[in-house]
Amino acid sequence: MERMEKFYVTTPIYYVNDVPHIGHAYTTLAADIIARFYRGIMGSENVFFLTGTDEHGANIAQAAEAHGKSPKEYADEVSPRFKEAWEILNIKYDFFIRTTDPRHEKIASEIIQKIYDRGFIYKGLYEGWYCLGCERFLTEIEMVDGKCPLHTTKDPVYQKEKNYFFKLKDLSKKVLEKIESQEYKILPLERYNEIVSRLKIGVEDISISRAGVSWGIPVPWDKTQTIYVWVEALLNYYTTIKFLDDKEIFWPPSLQLMAKDILWFHCVIWQAILIAADISLPKTIFAHGFFTLDGTKMSKSLGNVISPKQLTDKYGTDGARYLLMSQYTFGSDGDISVGKFSEKYNSDLANGLGNHVARILGLCQKYTNGKIPEIREDPDQHPLRVAVDRLTWKNSWHERDRLLKEFKIQESLQSIWSYLKEADNYINSVKPWELHEVGEIEKLNYALYGLLDSLLQVAWQIYPFLPETAEKIAEALGEEKLKSANPLDKESYTNVKSGTVLKTDLRLFPRI
Ligand code: MSP
Repeated sequence: MERMEKFYVTTPIYYVNDVPHIGHAYTTLAADIIARFYRGIMGSENVFFLTGTDEHGANIAQAAEAHGKSPKEYADEVSPRFKEAWEILNIKYDFFIRTTDPRHEKIASEIIQKIYDRGFIYKGLYEGWYCLGCERFLTEIEMVDGKCPLHTTKDPVYQKEKNYFFKLKDLSKKVLEKIESQEYKILPLERYNEIVSRLKIGVEDISISRAGVSWGIPVPWDKTQTIYVWVEALLNYYTTIKFLDDKEIFWPPSLQLMAKDILWFHCVIWQAILIAADISLPKTIFAHGFFTLDGTKMSKSLGNVISPKQLTDKYGTDGARYLLMSQYTFGSDGDISVGKFSEKYNSDLANGLGNHVARILGLCQKYTNGKIPEIREDPDQHPLRVAVDRLTWKNSWHERDRLLKEFKIQESLQSIWSYLKEADNYINSVKPWELHEVGEIEKLNYALYGLLDSLLQVAWQIYPFLPETAEKIAEALGEEKLKSANPLDKESYTNVKSGTVLKTDLRLFPRI
């Protein structure tokens, strides 16, 4: 997956008429964490993180009509809701693609023409049940009591029309070959198995245009049809890279993230399109699971949909980020226990991290005049310092890096939190207050220096997950170089500087 020189990560582009909720946020946050992590080790200029909104298709045209707007007016009006949601969650993407961007439209149309010219598209008759919510035809097997299992309030419509077809059946053999030879990876393994077995059962050609849908990009050689919105949407990952100046070097994507609901589109249809257009394939496709809220599916009709804002209002930006990502293994299905949000916030953030930071700063307030203590000997040689080092350098951050490279977000958070526990135990065993009482000032200073330096490491480690908090901790320690500092790279990483006045009144995560 990893090309040392460039890292390109994508999220799905979300349907523009959806109101952003924590399901969308879950994927986008994961991408943000991974992008921030790679920016730390590769430099910001080598990382590109793309997200955006999916704005064509009959479903969106209908929503616009219901609001008495043209589809474009409507999309212009609602697309910023996603940007706002990402802003309050402190998600830093590099570009936000809207599929109504004329530059996307132009290149998408050129690619479809190229695929046509290369003989992968033909005209045929399509009939079947179409679900507007999913914007796709359903198979008989998928339907439950004649309805789409995901959109039970919108009946599928029987459609029969002359469409352009894409030779997916032929191409699927190549796709399977490339998956099995790991030319691109599908993760986690259970998803790989699912896709491979479904490919082995056999695949039919798919229709890639619509005669009855006018809100879309016209098929270049037949303006009576538009490109099927799913096919067009997938192209965004490539068109953006093409139309942005000097971003071509980012192709192909290092990592495409999404939930399992749209994995087939990404692992099979998207790859076949790229093969047909003679474009190189992404390196890794990772699908995470779906989550329930306190055991119940999140849905509008149940009224339990949570918006990012509801979370940040109560827990702050970093609180919301932590609560969303720390609940279950990234990659599996899971449950987000909203009922226990406050409890978890108090135990892990107010007590765990917040107390740990306040405790160390408090000790310095008491014993070192609120400054980073002077240490005379080489701190790396001192036994106490070595003990702190063992906690920070040898285990903890290596572990975080290893886990994050495998997209183990929750485990990676757990490894940092278990370090915090160890560091707290270290304070208990060194007992700075006793060292002070018996006048062992040099030892006391080494211990506190080591702990402050380890706090800088904590800041650096939590940065991808809790960027604001990390910056606050670094600032309290008088450090600015947080984002680029990397213990791996001795050039960029510095220890905390003796004599610095600490912000000892830093209070993170007020208790709820
Ligand atoms: N527009 C298409 C994607 C086109 S990509 C070329 C689409 N949009 S969507 O708005 O429905 O977003 C689906 C994605 O939202 C999922 O793949 C997942 O990333 C995220 N999630 C939405 N609800 C979710 C949960 N309840 N749980 C986990 N992820 C969720 O499909």
